[in-house]
Amino acid sequence: MAGVTMAEAPVVHLVGSGPGDPELLTVKAWKLLQRADVVVHDRLVGRSILDLAPATALRIDVGKKPGEHRFDQSSINALLAELAAPGRLVVRLKGGDPFVFGRGGEEALYLLRRGIQVEVVPGITAAFGCAAANRVPLTHRGVATGVRFVTGHCRDGWWLELDWNSLADPATTLVIYMGLTHIEQISARLIKAGLDAATPTMAIENGTQEAERNLRAPLGGLAEACREAGFRSPVLFIIGPVVEVLHNPAPEPLATSDRQAAWIERVLHA
Ligand SMILES: C[S@@+](CC[C@H](N)C(=O)[O-])C[C@H]1O[C@@H](n2cnc3c(N)ncnc32)[C@H](O)[C@@H]1O
Repeated sequence: MAGVTMAEAPVVHLVGSGPGDPELLTVKAWKLLQRADVVVHDRLVGRSILDLAPATALRIDVGKKPGEHRFDQSSINALLAELAAPGRLVVRLKGGDPFVFGRGGEEALYLLRRGIQVEVVPGITAAFGCAAANRVPLTHRGVATGVRFVTGHCRDGWWLELDWNSLADPATTLVIYMGLTHIEQISARLIKAGLDAATPTMAIENGTQEAERNLRAPLGGLAEACREAGFRSPVLFIIGPVVEVLHNPAPEPLATSDRQAAWIERVLHA
């Protein structure tokens, strides 16, 4: 890159678009999109977000549908490198956060190895968006001391290789991305590893979007509930007692001061 100063060096902006609701876009992502010359985007990025880019911006859909490989990962990498040019604002727009199951790391590595700068703008990952939209605190004092994000995806015909014993921890909330195809196997393996079949779960389809649907079911009945409801990708699973915390809140016992106040009220009005 002799003769090219850092200011002129080509840059690709790796931007998270959040889980779908355009209002969950970061201000930084929103500003970049409004100035973009090129937007290379995934299948899960909605029209209302893409419409934020200027009408003159080149939009390239590199979305991969399950079973359809119009653009494989290496062609996407090569395309980004080709598009990067001094003075051209290239936005690589990904659903959720680019570094959570988004292959953002691979794209960044490919570009950096070729002397192309990479600026990363985080996005709200599906776990945070879906949990917030459905009032599920992913951690909750006394209920879940941690949370794990896991992929439920594996190559066709392959057996999911996850550390089931460590995942079957009732004190850790499990969030499963890309797990719809294998949810029956995932639930069965978790139960076999010791997680109670009655553990509360939630499945969220198209979270934070107008078309959102969700259901709650015990772990043992999750796969069947999804089948009956006809759930289709994108679906996120939240597994753990946190699912019920704000859905069935038990009435809080009255604090001493409240009990005294109630007693005084009764005495005064007796
Ligand atoms: C390739 S991963 C991309 C994850 C993304 N980078 C993120 O941070 O959310 C795609 C998976 O994310 C989950 N997902 C993404 N957006 C979702 C949404 N709006 N509702 C439910 N699940 C979603 C689904 O499990 C989907 O199969």
